[in-house]
Amino acid sequence: MLECIEQLESRFRSAGLVYGHGSDNSWDEAVFLVLSACDLPLTAGDEVAEMVLSPLQAECLSDWSNQRLIERKPLPYITGRAWLGGVEFICDHRALVPRSPLAELILNDYAPWLASEGSLKILDLCCGGGCLGILAALQDPQSQVLLVDIDSDALDLARENILKHQVHSRVRCLQSDVLALCPAQSFDVVLCNPPYVDREDMGALPAEYLHEPSSALASGDDGLNFTRELLQQLPSFLHEQSVVFLELGNSWEHFDQLFAGNTITWLEFEQGGWGVCVLTKSEVEELARALS
Ligand SMILES: C[S@@+](CC[C@H](N)C(=O)[O-])C[C@H]1O[C@@H](n2cnc3c(N)ncnc32)[C@H](O)[C@@H]1O
Repeated sequence: MLECIEQLESRFRSAGLVYGHGSDNSWDEAVFLVLSACDLPLTAGDEVAEMVLSPLQAECLSDWSNQRLIERKPLPYITGRAWLGGVEFICDHRALVPRSPLAELILNDYAPWLASEGSLKILDLCCGGGCLGILAALQDPQSQVLLVDIDSDALDLARENILKHQVHSRVRCLQSDVLALCPAQSFDVVLCNPPYVDREDMGALPAEYLHEPSSALASGDDGLNFTRELLQQLPSFLHEQSVVFLELGNSWEHFDQLFAGNTITWLEFEQGGWGVCVLTKSEVEELARALS
């Protein structure tokens, strides 16, 4: 098995693959692909190094390697699973591959930003396969979580992940364009990783990213079309202690320029990632006013 991993890693390197869907190097992807093709846990160690692959495992490995090397599919779409915050999720082409830095905030219980106490009401807006909201529900067993997305396929995947993690009593799904169909209520925490890729970046996406739904990525010329609509709709779903964590990736600079007169708090992450700001209700209201 070690030999298979070494050969595959070398093929990955020569093919110039792009990483960014849960791993950042050819070795990790080769290990992950070979262990997954053999149905072994990622925690498997030296004890499997000398293992010989069965014909079925070898066939699976060959098929999956071609999908990665020729079709340039992101690895989680090939194996059907992805990890966020140490938790495994079902993953396929119906939604973006989970990789949001918001996971680190969830695992840190939103410190130091959250003042609300008691059982939290959490909104995961633009939930895709539901990974952020479900991670939040697992982190805080008292919380109630609403997952919202415009895409019914993504919500079907989110429902599968809800069942996988047995959180159906506390996590619900809603199909809505931004918050247009969300019943009146206020949330303590809003997690939002919306589409935010600008037109220039969309035109230069590596092949791996073209396997993801473009509606999960693109958001107009400056990447902020969704966000402008969000700022208008969000205030009525917030209270004075609410905290909003909004991910904007590379478009954070467009956002900073658009709101040059406002102070925006950008967060730093130990595990990597950038372009996430934290907003209070009054800050969201100020930004919405600045737009009008
Ligand atoms: C960047 S993906 C984030 C998925 C997931 N939260 C994650 O972190 O992996 C953005 C998601 O926003 C959804 N979306 C796009 N436009 C939307 C809209 N107008 N209203 C609600 N959801 C929308 C897409 O369907 C997609 O699932």
